[in-house]
Amino acid sequence: MKTTVQQLQADFIATMAAVSDLNGLEAIRVNFLGKKSQISDLLGQLGKLSIDDKKIWGPRLNQLKAEMTATLEEKTISFEADALESRLIEERIDFTLPSSGITKGSLHPITHVTRQIQQIFAGLGYIVAEGPEAETDHYNFSALNFGKDHPARDMHDTFYLDTPENRLLRTHTSGVQIHLMEEYKPPIRAITPGKVFRSDADVSHSPVFHQVEGLYVDKGVNMGHLKATLQHFFDQFFAKGSDIRLRPSYFPFTEPSVEADVSCVICKGKGCSMCKGSGWIEILGAGMVDPNVLRNVNIDPEEYSGFAFGMGVERLAILKYGITNIKLFYDNHTAFLEQFQ
Ligand code: PHE
Repeated sequence: MKTTVQQLQADFIATMAAVSDLNGLEAIRVNFLGKKSQISDLLGQLGKLSIDDKKIWGPRLNQLKAEMTATLEEKTISFEADALESRLIEERIDFTLPSSGITKGSLHPITHVTRQIQQIFAGLGYIVAEGPEAETDHYNFSALNFGKDHPARDMHDTFYLDTPENRLLRTHTSGVQIHLMEEYKPPIRAITPGKVFRSDADVSHSPVFHQVEGLYVDKGVNMGHLKATLQHFFDQFFAKGSDIRLRPSYFPFTEPSVEADVSCVICKGKGCSMCKGSGWIEILGAGMVDPNVLRNVNIDPEEYSGFAFGMGVERLAILKYGITNIKLFYDNHTAFLEQFQ
């Protein structure tokens, strides 16, 4: 027994001196302390020894086992510390190195233009109002004086939704005017920016686009106010000196109705491909709020009058920035968007 124990101890010391990593330690643990290890075997044999031998070898074997366990544990802790140390050195980050550069995001041109429109009208005392994109027929059409079978409904290429109230995707933000006039008494000055939807797609039409409409209702509002307001807007948005002209048009919710053109911002009225040689660019629809619309929201048309206008934000952005394809607005190419920092 004595030589066996001495040999085991010597073996353990020699093996431990040679071990170099955590995997090696685990192998030693299994070998020297596991179920099939020599020490387990020797402890199992204690029963066969005489009482005197048991008294000697029982404590001796247990002590050896405890020593081996403690040595292994100590070495494990030291190896783990070494491993951590070398990982910290290996993965060290040099915070003083120059970075690869931070790219800055930018606002979308549609957002830029919408904000600019809002700012110009805020200067005239207009509030900004928003309404639901999924609108009822009442707000998108009926209350705006579109009769049940009015042909103007067809021109709106409406997306209808399968909802309990038969909602539709609003084809213009004019419905927000109705919400506004139901809620507030004149004087009302508001613009209504937002997404609108029409089942229409080609090089110059997208099924989703953006509008800003405006409404002014008060006592004594007339076409002169409308024209002056639009002139002020174009002077601010494009450059001073843009001419505007009003052409008669038709909308169910305005009477009289006009379409407003500005002198071409590209060729200054001489004629180019942007204005198709005419020198003018059609920008918006407008008119005096139809008395029927005022009646629909319990505003007395004998006492009050108002004007409304509506414009497409994409169109204004195209003219302002010389953008040639509406697809660019929706492709999200950073090379395009970066130009609007
Ligand atoms: N709602 C109209 C459209 O989308 C534009 C418009 C607004 C015309 C207000 C007149 C008055 O085409």
